[in-house]
Amino acid sequence: MSIPIPAEDPRHVPNRAVIDPSAITENTRALGTLLEEHTALMAVVKADGYGHGMLTAARAAIEGGATWLGVAHPASALALAHADLDAQILTWLYEPHTAQAVLPEVLGAGVDVAVGSVEMLQLVSEAARQADRRARVHLKIDTGMGRNGILPWQMRELGAAITADDFVQLTAAWTHLTSADEPDDPATDQQAELFDSACEALAEEVGPIPLQHIANSAATLTRPDLHRDIVRPGIALYGYPPVPTDVPLRPAMTLTSRLALVKEVPEGHSIGYGRIRHTDRTTRLGLVPIGYADGLHRAASDQVTLIVRTESGDYRARQVGRISMDQLVVDLGPSTDARAGDEVFVFGDAGGAPNAPSAATADDWAEAADTIPYEVLTSVSARVSRKVLS
Ligand SMILES: Cc1ncc(COP(=O)(O)O)c(C=O)c1O
Repeated sequence: MSIPIPAEDPRHVPNRAVIDPSAITENTRALGTLLEEHTALMAVVKADGYGHGMLTAARAAIEGGATWLGVAHPASALALAHADLDAQILTWLYEPHTAQAVLPEVLGAGVDVAVGSVEMLQLVSEAARQADRRARVHLKIDTGMGRNGILPWQMRELGAAITADDFVQLTAAWTHLTSADEPDDPATDQQAELFDSACEALAEEVGPIPLQHIANSAATLTRPDLHRDIVRPGIALYGYPPVPTDVPLRPAMTLTSRLALVKEVPEGHSIGYGRIRHTDRTTRLGLVPIGYADGLHRAASDQVTLIVRTESGDYRARQVGRISMDQLVVDLGPSTDARAGDEVFVFGDAGGAPNAPSAATADDWAEAADTIPYEVLTSVSARVSRKVLS
């Protein structure tokens, strides 16, 4: 009998990104305890919920008290709107082709849109006319990120344009912080000052601004003065606070695989491309069928320790040699009882016995690859199937 197997079908590969929605719910709840009653929480679920699955993350965050959802792409916003979730949605990144193709439908679905330039305001106004619905606009102010956003001295012009247009309605003014993960960096205060004076100018033109929002995870954790009407945490919801904190947050993703092979090799045996590592004794090597095409960073090669669950317990095994596209090697030590088929924890929560070693974290992988946990989480590729715990 032949089974038709589509290319890269993740069902036939042992790699799993195990997602624990209760972690996202509890993390959301924990962040909520920092907020004044009038401040709402917008769960940032862009990039497929930072790799956890957008709808999974959105539902879990709403259960934890989020009343807003934020995504970059209008198409993601539409998917959220169609899921009939109990939250207001904001989308903030589009260009003219996207705007023409999807914004009328997005606005028709009741989604709020960000506007960061005169041109974007025109695109939104046009889409609103087509949808025959007034667009709820969040005016983005560029206070130093240099990406999307109106420069503070353009506020009056934009304010006047919004007031003159019956198809747009100012719902919020907002900005995004460049350096909130460095609490001592004066950039955050400078951005807040620019934001406040831009809002003053805008208010003089249009009247009171209904809502203001500034804070990402780092500012949610460290800057109550910047919480304003809505906070927009992302990474902290997934269990990776970007600043030291006492707020209890736990990772929601655990990346697992299984040993494909265990073999003994002599001292001095070379491992992987470029032979950057040789065994320092006779030892047993374990082959794990996960690599950089699954999202692991090759730059993290030969640095991180994985957990292997053998019949006798959980053991640390150092990843050795360069990480390949589809596979990596761990040094199991000379006396291991590990066998092909044993489970391997690449990062996350191994959930072992109380004294068992804990697994590496996305922070450990990020440090080894000289990047940030955001990139580690969002890099886990589509060929790794997501298993959502219930
Ligand atoms: C506009 C905006 N707001 C909020 C966030 C959430 O940031 P963080 O994940 O650092 O909390 C992001 C993510 O980059 C973003 O782009």
